[in-house]
Amino acid sequence: MKYVIGNWKAYKSFSEVQEWLNTFTAHDLASIPQSLKVILCPPAPFLHMCAEKLHQYNISIGSQDISQFEIGPVTGEVTGTQLDGLAEYVIIGHSERRQYFHENDEVLSAKVRSALHHGLKVIFCIDGASDFIPEGVTMVVYEPIDAIGTGRNATVDSVMQMKSQLTHLPHCLYIYGGSVDSSNVTMYMQHDSIDGVLPGTAALNPQEFYELIQESLIS
Ligand code: PGA
Repeated sequence: MKYVIGNWKAYKSFSEVQEWLNTFTAHDLASIPQSLKVILCPPAPFLHMCAEKLHQYNISIGSQDISQFEIGPVTGEVTGTQLDGLAEYVIIGHSERRQYFHENDEVLSAKVRSALHHGLKVIFCIDGASDFIPEGVTMVVYEPIDAIGTGRNATVDSVMQMKSQLTHLPHCLYIYGGSVDSSNVTMYMQHDSIDGVLPGTAALNPQEFYELIQESLIS
């Protein structure tokens, strides 16, 4: 099984999401084989809308975040209780959350615990081998900061070099993210030891995202 995980970050309005979904679902999504797991991670307000439109296809929904709290007086938070049944996956540890929201190892561990408690599969992002990876994580995404949103995607060699430093995680899926698009995705997907990719920018355009999925199948 290979993975393509689209991360919209905090882009798109309600009408833009409608437009994206209409354009994307006009493609032959039914032909995406079971061997490729496509996961879309929209902003929280659009999770339900995307889930409704995409559930008939082999496409899963992921949340971009989860609260470290279970439930209660934490205004504005989206908790595991609320994501339960709405999303199947959740991104935790993205460098933007670490940088702008100061999420440290303790917070990230609490988020992973909550996600696992609610049966969500964790997509855990790291920037390097020294990043702490909480217990229970089974999918790690290597996202070197200088490759995110810059057009400077990492070489397969450097992605594999990072993997060789994660020997303490023998059973983890290993994903790469950072400026992945339809023109460079094949080299990652062709590699036996890379389980998938996490594109951000390339997922914003439905045509480009579809092409990226198609190119992912050429391996
Ligand atoms: P990018 O973003 O594909 O635009 O580099 C990836 C990510 O940060 O998740």
